[in-house]
Amino acid sequence: MELVFVSHNPHKVEEIKEILAPGFSLKGLGDICCKEDIPEPHQTLEENALEKARYVNRKFGVNCFADDTGLEVDALNGLPGVHSARFAGEAKDSEANIRKLLKNLEGKKNRRARFRTVIALIISGKEYLFEGVVNGHITLEKAGKEGFGYDPVFIPEGYQTTFAQMPLPEKNRISHRGRAIKKLTRFLRSLSSD
Ligand code: IMP
Repeated sequence: MELVFVSHNPHKVEEIKEILAPGFSLKGLGDICCKEDIPEPHQTLEENALEKARYVNRKFGVNCFADDTGLEVDALNGLPGVHSARFAGEAKDSEANIRKLLKNLEGKKNRRARFRTVIALIISGKEYLFEGVVNGHITLEKAGKEGFGYDPVFIPEGYQTTFAQMPLPEKNRISHRGRAIKKLTRFLRSLSSD
């Protein structure tokens, strides 16, 4: 069965292709000639992921899934959350986002945070949601060069190093996105074995 991942990022698409259930052929937005920047106007990850999947399902008539991720910081009442990419402005500048995050946490003892990914799947007209979470805390300063986004300031629970100090396969094994994708692939495997 053909499945479209609502992403313009060919690297993300390739990564998921590697682990998808047998019997599914994965395409990205580029493969179906969708060039639009699909809006994410909502205040929750669930609504944004669903909206993106519904948009592509409606417009292109394909089975598809979309994801949305946020960093939720307890001392900031869950911010930056859905605003993670644009926390410091429209430029989606990771350095500026991290600076703003560390500034907002100055003097705060509670640095607990979690990354949360939600995947919305629409298959044969039915909608499903899958969630992946990794708990951890925000460091006092940046460490590490791997990864992207907030990786240099996030230490997952049970670890001594930031995501940016870990080899990518290790991050993927325990990350929010890795966990959500695992749930998605388990579900797809159960469909293909029916
Ligand atoms: P997206 O929904 O995957 O585009 O993620 C939204 C924003 O959350 C990104 O622009 C990053 O700032 C942040 N983010 C998402 N996933 C990660 C991650 O694995 N590490 C660090 N930051 C992330």
